[in-house]
Amino acid sequence: MDYIHLQSPKNWMNDPNGFIYYKGMYHMFYQHFPYAPVWGTMHWGHATSKDLVHWEHTDIAIYPSKHYDANGIFSGNALEKDGKLYLYYTGIRYPHMNPDNIHIPGNDILEACQALLISEDGISFDNQNGKQCILAPSTDDTLMSRANTRDPKVFEVNGIYYMILGSTENGEGKLIFFESENAIDFHFRASYQSRAFGSVLECPDLFELDGTYILLGAAMEYFDDGLANDAQEIYKLCSFEPKTCAFSWESESHFLDYGTDYYATQTTLDADGNRVLIGWMRMPQAKSDAKRGAWSGLMTIPRTLSVKNGHLYSIPHKNIVSQFLVELSVEDVPGLIITGADDIQLFGTDESVTDFRLSVNLQEHTTIDIGGYLITYENNRITADRTAVYPVGNYRYQSTTPELKDGHHIDIYVSDSIIETYVNHGEYVISHIIYR
Ligand code: FRU
Repeated sequence: MDYIHLQSPKNWMNDPNGFIYYKGMYHMFYQHFPYAPVWGTMHWGHATSKDLVHWEHTDIAIYPSKHYDANGIFSGNALEKDGKLYLYYTGIRYPHMNPDNIHIPGNDILEACQALLISEDGISFDNQNGKQCILAPSTDDTLMSRANTRDPKVFEVNGIYYMILGSTENGEGKLIFFESENAIDFHFRASYQSRAFGSVLECPDLFELDGTYILLGAAMEYFDDGLANDAQEIYKLCSFEPKTCAFSWESESHFLDYGTDYYATQTTLDADGNRVLIGWMRMPQAKSDAKRGAWSGLMTIPRTLSVKNGHLYSIPHKNIVSQFLVELSVEDVPGLIITGADDIQLFGTDESVTDFRLSVNLQEHTTIDIGGYLITYENNRITADRTAVYPVGNYRYQSTTPELKDGHHIDIYVSDSIIETYVNHGEYVISHIIYR
């Protein structure tokens, strides 16, 4: 069982998929390569949870079994319909095989279709008879790129089902809208493209929250600065008119997380109807431990979203916060040095000896050193620096928030592999993978 941070049982994990609260259980599927701790032929791994805190691993849910998904089950979402679980995904075929490695595309070319697997109960997944291809690979790249259209998110508004897809045209990210009355037969409605969506838009999500629509997306080549991980998860406030699929967005892009490892997020509604967000943390190198062997990738703490004054706030889900009730003192945590902060509160959990939560009020020039991971507060911004706890390479080591408006308080959730810093109760977040 995984605690707080979901990981694959071993080997490789990337995007969360099909995140849903269904029949009293949270289901999390995820991009998974079961054979090695590297990206390869994608499967949907599967875990369930009653509380978003403890995760039970179940068997792989979706694996290649058809001509149209022979080389991978890419990302997608879940929808409950007539009591059944509809799992939408992108089926991948490689037009050219790579003779040296069948798990990566030959000549870097994909062929993408949109597919659906209907599960009766969220427990069994019939990979032979339960699948169908619902949008064949595109034959018109100006409508929809044949290679790079993916990651369906299907949602319902007033009895109509909308599918949004991430895509690309002329080097700009593109968002495509389809519509359906039965959640199976979809027809094209509209598309919108912009360099603000990166060069390819991946994993789009669109939902209404506190009176506005929010677009989340993973924008490839967003930074385009030569450093690794130049794709970035962004959000935009936008307006969406379901009847016409008219869609417009603010020019400014914001980050859900300033740490730059966070990518390909998914949201769903939790048991109380709150919008909850989870994201994958990218890792430059696999880690290894006795339980899993070599592994790469893990999920962040689930976060609850809200919008106030045109700003998206994300805070740790209340079920996570309530795990951290064991009072600790700074001396209990090896390697923790706090200089110049006040109102220091430190909590552990009953179930982990390494995880802790540190909550402090910052003063100008406060420094928090967590075993070499440095958090500083200067000029009304927070910077996290992982240089001392990250491999040497072409990576991003330092992350800084925009200027703070809501005060100078931080809540830091620390575990073996990830440190998440929530600033001013969700005004900004910085999360980093760490190696130690
Ligand atoms: C994002 C992504 C998705 C795709 C999946 C493949 O990380 O590239 O666009 O569906 O990962 O694993």
